Amino acid sequence: MLELRGITRRFRIGPTERQVLHGIDLDLHGGELVSIMGGSGSGKTTFMNILGLLDRPSDGTYRIKGEDVLRANPDAQSLMRNRMIGFVFQQFFLMPRLSAWRNVALPLMYRGTPEGEARRRSEAMLARVGLAQHLGHMPNMLSGGQKQRVAIARSLVTEPALLLADEPTGALDPTVSREIMALFEEMNRELGVLVVIITHDPGVAARCRRRLTLVQGRLLEEHQVEAA
Ligand SMILES: Nc1ncnc2c1ncn2[C@@H]1O[C@H](COP(=O)(O)OP(=O)(O)OP(=O)(O)O)[C@@H](O)[C@H]1O
Ligand SMILES: [Mg+2]
Repeated sequence: MLELRGITRRFRIGPTERQVLHGIDLDLHGGELVSIMGGSGSGKTTFMNILGLLDRPSDGTYRIKGEDVLRANPDAQSLMRNRMIGFVFQQFFLMPRLSAWRNVALPLMYRGTPEGEARRRSEAMLARVGLAQHLGHMPNMLSGGQKQRVAIARSLVTEPALLLADEPTGALDPTVSREIMALFEEMNRELGVLVVIITHDPGVAARCRRRLTLVQGRLLEEHQVEAA
């Protein structure tokens, strides 16, 4: 479903240039559950931003369902991002003045979904992530794990084909971390969404069927890491 070839990313910092990604080739298939590990500064977020069409690589090609997404114009790219990709971050990024269901309904409202339908779909998704009792709660009334459930519901309410999560359990304690991981597994299994989780936590990575590691700007499969 996703095909990346020769992806590089260089950043210009004043007069110098720093290369972070060195020619990444990767195929990701629908329904996979994939982790990406790697030391701090190894380029995980940089790579996720490219996967999520939030940033462009310096070189390389990227196809989603056969379509050359880097050649598409910026409007077509944002449309693809909104239609196909959901994001979850360590810091949740909920709107503090909106209730749980309104936070989840937001991406639907941006698309012009009528409010009644947006509310129905967001409440159904919140029920799926175990928050049926918290639909009207404001974010400051929710625990960290509950906030992350709201963020996951928000990322999935638009039925994306790809869910990208950058350190989704980084701000949570180990027990809550395991619950959130179980939720990703369930959503991956039941909705068939391709899930890519960036993590520092070996326990989180161990639960993914496919494990990748960024080493010096190159992406290795687990068996390649062991051999290296
Ligand atoms: N916009 C930018 N301009 C210049 N350098 C950048 C930029 N974005 C990232 N970098 C550099 O690229 C490298 C990789 O950063 P990145 O955020 O991808 O790392 P990471 O693997 O996500 O790290 P962490 O685990 O700490 O989140 C870092 O050295 C960072 O300073
Ligand atoms: Mg990062």
